[in-house]
Amino acid sequence: MIEEKLLEKYNQPLPRYTSYPPATFFKEGFSASDYIKAVAESNQHNPKSISLYLHIPFCTQLCFYCGCTTMISRNNNLYEEYIDAIIKEIELIAAHIDKSRPVTQIHWGGGTPNALSADQIERIMNAIYQQFKTAPSAEIAIECNPAYLTVEYINRLLKMGFNRMSLGIQDFDEKILLAVNREPSAIPVKDIIQQLRDNGASVNLDFIYGLPYQTPESFTRSIEKAIEARPDRIVTFSYAHVPWVKNHQKTLEKNGIPGPDEKIKMFDNARETLLNAGYIAIGMDHYAIPEDPLSVAIKSKTLHRNFQGYCTRDTTGQVYAFGMSAISQLHNAYVQNTKNIPAYIAAINKGEAPVEKGYLMDDTDIAVREVINEIMCNNRLNWQEVSARINITTDKLKKLTDFKPESLGPLAKDGLLDFNEEEITVTPTGRLLIRNIAAVFDPKLNAGEKRFSKTI
Ligand SMILES: C[S@@+](CC[C@H](N)C(=O)[O-])C[C@H]1O[C@@H](n2cnc3c(N)ncnc32)[C@H](O)[C@@H]1O
Ligand code: SF4
Repeated sequence: MIEEKLLEKYNQPLPRYTSYPPATFFKEGFSASDYIKAVAESNQHNPKSISLYLHIPFCTQLCFYCGCTTMISRNNNLYEEYIDAIIKEIELIAAHIDKSRPVTQIHWGGGTPNALSADQIERIMNAIYQQFKTAPSAEIAIECNPAYLTVEYINRLLKMGFNRMSLGIQDFDEKILLAVNREPSAIPVKDIIQQLRDNGASVNLDFIYGLPYQTPESFTRSIEKAIEARPDRIVTFSYAHVPWVKNHQKTLEKNGIPGPDEKIKMFDNARETLLNAGYIAIGMDHYAIPEDPLSVAIKSKTLHRNFQGYCTRDTTGQVYAFGMSAISQLHNAYVQNTKNIPAYIAAINKGEAPVEKGYLMDDTDIAVREVINEIMCNNRLNWQEVSARINITTDKLKKLTDFKPESLGPLAKDGLLDFNEEEITVTPTGRLLIRNIAAVFDPKLNAGEKRFSKTI
């Protein structure tokens, strides 16, 4: 348990640092040819491997808490048109990628990728397999809504090569699901886990705390039920209530949503329950069984992350992203596709990359990104190791990140970290306030859009 005084002091609006710089810094006016140039340059950079992200922006029903980029539609003609476009986009961009490098990670996100039929998913997978060489150990993951999963459908996914599935559970309590307009799993979650396990695939379960009718006790019960099924990973997301961006979230206010004190109890209880059950904490809200590659990576200090979540340095590569709103994450650029589906399809049909925004990284950005990633993922910073990784001297890294030891003094005094000339080590208390520690190295913190969610 973290002291209330500290929580109050550090509970500030800060970026989540899923990327550095945060997406709010991406600029309009980044063109399709800028993207193609960045792709060509990415062929020369580390990591050498290729990650692919596919965004499927469809759901059949709107969950009132949803903060994802999605569209409610069951229109199969639209699905088909979108699939044709995404396949054309894969072919268009793949022509500029050095494909002698292996694909080590494929991630399908959404929306709800399993809103598509298995045949539709297979059509896209075949296009990927035709264009790229997949490493034998590649992680091939898909986010699914368990309300629409059947044994046959899962078997089809396994045959296509998927070896990771993330299930949006949110809560097991049906009253809570009803209040957020969500259906429960079609088949028992423990049976889905068993089927995937029997076929060598790994499973993650997503939960959200802070929804109407949830209490610390009810949320702990849901987490205990999840632990009984022993998924490889569990995520407990704090409900992000941003009705100024997602108008439909206002619907939840009529039943009342738990306040910050209740949410802290839910977070604390869930964390304690998971740690007592032997799960390893990965960052603030991810947990994994000790044998999971993420737990192994945290031990060997090789944990990494991208927009798709935590990963290891071995699996991640230059991330080429396809679909509306998808963000490519290259060594020296971030590039985001348009969020408008008709504009996305129209651009592709003209043979153009459907780019809307982008950001070119300079040397300072690359240095700061490396430092913030290391702190966020591995709870430490060894100046020598990080500078070697990006081929610069320690002095240059300290200069580029404008590092002043005195800025760490107050954090050390509050027990969030220890430091000496070579290394910064985050304490267990500091891990819960990791965004505050990362923010010390962020020169852009006081520039641009500042409406971030609070750190707790
Ligand atoms: C793309 S969805 C997962 C797949 C599928 N759409 C589903 O809901 O089952 C990704 C996850 O984001 C989380 N999420 C969505 N809206 C959220 C919000 N407002 N605050 C926190 N987490 C949220 C949910 O836990 C959800 O499982
Ligand atoms: S939470 Fe998942 S299923 Fe629900 S609307 Fe959002 S993306 Fe769709």
